[in-house]
Amino acid sequence: MAKKRNIIVGQSGGPTAVINSSLAGVYKNAKERGFHKVYGMLHGIQGLLDEQYVDLSTQIHSDMDIELLKRTPSAFLGSCRYKLPEIHENPEIYEKIFSILDKLEIEAFVYIGGNDSMDTIKKLSDYAIIKGHSQKFLGVPKTIDNDLALTDHTPGFGSAAKYIAASTKEVIRDALGLNYKKENIIILEIMGRNAGWLTGATALARTEECEGPDLIYLPEIVFDVDKFLKKVQELMKKKSSIVIAVSEGLKLADGRYVCELSAANADYVDAFGHKQLAGTATYLANFLGAKIGCKTRAIEFSTLQRSASHMASRTDVDEAFMVGGAAVKAADEGDSGKMVVIDRVADDPYMSAAGIYDVHRIANNEKVVPREWVNKEGNYVTEEFIDYVKPLIQGDYQPFMVNGLPQHLVLKRK
Ligand code: F6P
Repeated sequence: MAKKRNIIVGQSGGPTAVINSSLAGVYKNAKERGFHKVYGMLHGIQGLLDEQYVDLSTQIHSDMDIELLKRTPSAFLGSCRYKLPEIHENPEIYEKIFSILDKLEIEAFVYIGGNDSMDTIKKLSDYAIIKGHSQKFLGVPKTIDNDLALTDHTPGFGSAAKYIAASTKEVIRDALGLNYKKENIIILEIMGRNAGWLTGATALARTEECEGPDLIYLPEIVFDVDKFLKKVQELMKKKSSIVIAVSEGLKLADGRYVCELSAANADYVDAFGHKQLAGTATYLANFLGAKIGCKTRAIEFSTLQRSASHMASRTDVDEAFMVGGAAVKAADEGDSGKMVVIDRVADDPYMSAAGIYDVHRIANNEKVVPREWVNKEGNYVTEEFIDYVKPLIQGDYQPFMVNGLPQHLVLKRK
């Protein structure tokens, strides 16, 4: 009997507002290309190791479900932060994974994730070559951090940037309307451990009717607390309401994170050795409050910024869907050990297309904001930065509203 053509897809790392649009792109394309079963790993490779998976046709029954999936934030299948050991360190784990793949008659393995997740694609595709397995391994980019190499940008970034820019505008309006003749400082804390793409996106709040944030601090630039205080004091001579955007990953000259200065900082470290970062804005707001003696407020966008699908960018949703489909096509045509990328084809009007690169050049790499896209003082982004991000937040993808709230597609487990 001929071997079944099955495909398996997983989601990994921090979710985004559009990671499920990529999943929808994988599912639809796989079905159109005649794959028999489309399996979903539950909680990525970590769940697969426990044989946790679903047949996606038990979850997605119509084009309407696909549309709903595209509008659902967070990882529909569940995510994980799991680092595979080096092949020589633990070959048994690879044997186990490949025996599960063989049992499910998997031909193609698609993983939607960021740079840490691409390490999984790299290792599995290497192992398949070494051991002569025929399965194809493809990566689909995803991260609000926008820090993957060789792709113009990553799905998830545009929607998070749109939410951040819109929220920054709203916070600025709120602050301006606040107290008569009273000073106030607001500090916004934005995700992106080592890359300031999303923090820089607050600059998009600068529009005809809004001045935008007053200062923007990215993790790429060493943070100097004294200079920061001086700058804020200078600004306060000119205006009474100040809004400052800071990255969660701001670091001091001695390598410590600013959030580590706070006694309340958590010590949790994930499988990739990343510290949980939170508290930068709170620390700086308390610091300024004590030094300047005015009202301060810290706003940590936290997971809101990666789950705000009600503010999704249509460009982002469409591109996320496109790269999911492109990975299936590539695997079906025999590619392996690669990640789909987004190429910017034109700026005006903006156009993009899917390309493909060797995952070895992408895994574990971080693309940070170039120094020339940050001003000399290191406290704002340049026009080039803004021109780069602007097309990515365009268009809306309205949620399906039920009883006044967005409707989501959720996994049904027996
Ligand atoms: O991987 C993306 C990301 O959203 C980072 O910006 C952030 O530092 C991290 O995830 C937070 O992850 P977690 O929710 O697991 O703490």
